Amino acid sequence: MSRLFKVPLLSNTEVADGHRLASFALPRETRAPQAGQFFMVGIPGLQDPLLKRPFSLHRMTDEGRVEILYRIRGKGTRLLAERTTGDVIEVLGPLGKPFPLDSTGRPVLVGGGLGAVPLVQLALSLAGRSPRIFLGARAGAELLSLDWFRKADPETVVSTENGEAGLKGFVTEPFRAYLEDSGPTCTVYACGPTPMLAAVSAICRDRGIPGYVSLEEHMACGVGACMGCVTETVEGYKSVCREGPVFPMEQVRFSFPGGSPERGGP
Ligand SMILES: Cc1cc2nc3c(=O)[nH]c(=O)nc-3n(C[C@H](O)[C@H](O)[C@H](O)COP(=O)(O)OP(=O)(O)OC[C@H]3O[C@@H](n4cnc5c(N)ncnc54)[C@H](O)[C@@H]3O)c2cc1C
Ligand code: FES
Repeated sequence: MSRLFKVPLLSNTEVADGHRLASFALPRETRAPQAGQFFMVGIPGLQDPLLKRPFSLHRMTDEGRVEILYRIRGKGTRLLAERTTGDVIEVLGPLGKPFPLDSTGRPVLVGGGLGAVPLVQLALSLAGRSPRIFLGARAGAELLSLDWFRKADPETVVSTENGEAGLKGFVTEPFRAYLEDSGPTCTVYACGPTPMLAAVSAICRDRGIPGYVSLEEHMACGVGACMGCVTETVEGYKSVCREGPVFPMEQVRFSFPGGSPERGGP
């Protein structure tokens, strides 16, 4: 059951410039979150900003703590970053549909920038099935959680747009090359910027490969009540918070401002 609860922060540490890793424990009656699910997190008593902010499960620790990894972007994340261990936060969750784990073939994970956060727990959950992981970012400093990905796939393929780390260019290029060599017996899981998701989906569609994408939309309620987070699918508009954020790739209607999704970044 997802619930609204107040808990002390057990950590809230800077892990890279402008990025923090926070953790908290779940009340006993709350079900454990699964990879792909998220929490709405807020500061109790604060009217500005009034709304909680959504953050994906990064990882469940061995002690059963929930970890979230976030970038400081605006007021909500700045206020969260100012809290220290012991300060109380208000949390709603776990929310949304997780990544299905019972897929066929080898799991192939494709993450872009901070969008790779929900793939960390997924990679660890799938570690026994030898996942193949592709991570892209604009620059080396944006490649977060690499050590966790390498635990699940020691040969994790890294690419950066500026060539600072790994291959130079978009992550979709080594991903596409891998599929050419390995054939269609895999299931793809992707999370990252929309152009990257569109490109990954197009590559998979052309080769008849099944997969899932995790979408991000601005969210207000997080539970399907406000319809503020809808996305267009082949079955009509769906709320990302309740009916997603994970969707089968073939369901999502990506719009391609540039005409073609084939060259999505990062
Ligand atoms: C399901 C889900 C999971 C998420 N998981 C993570 C995570 O694991 N780590 C993380 O750092 N962030 C994550 N986000 C994004 C995070 O919720 C936003 O960065 C946060 O709400 C910003 O709040 P703020 O008050 O600091 O910024 P605001 O003042 O609300 O906004 C600052 C800037 O960020 C933009 N912005 C805010 N929310 C989003 C969004 N959802 N998509 C694109 N742009 C946005 C705004 O347009 C504005 O330009 C997730 C979002 C969703 C929907
Ligand atoms: S955020 Fe309200 S319906 Fe999704």
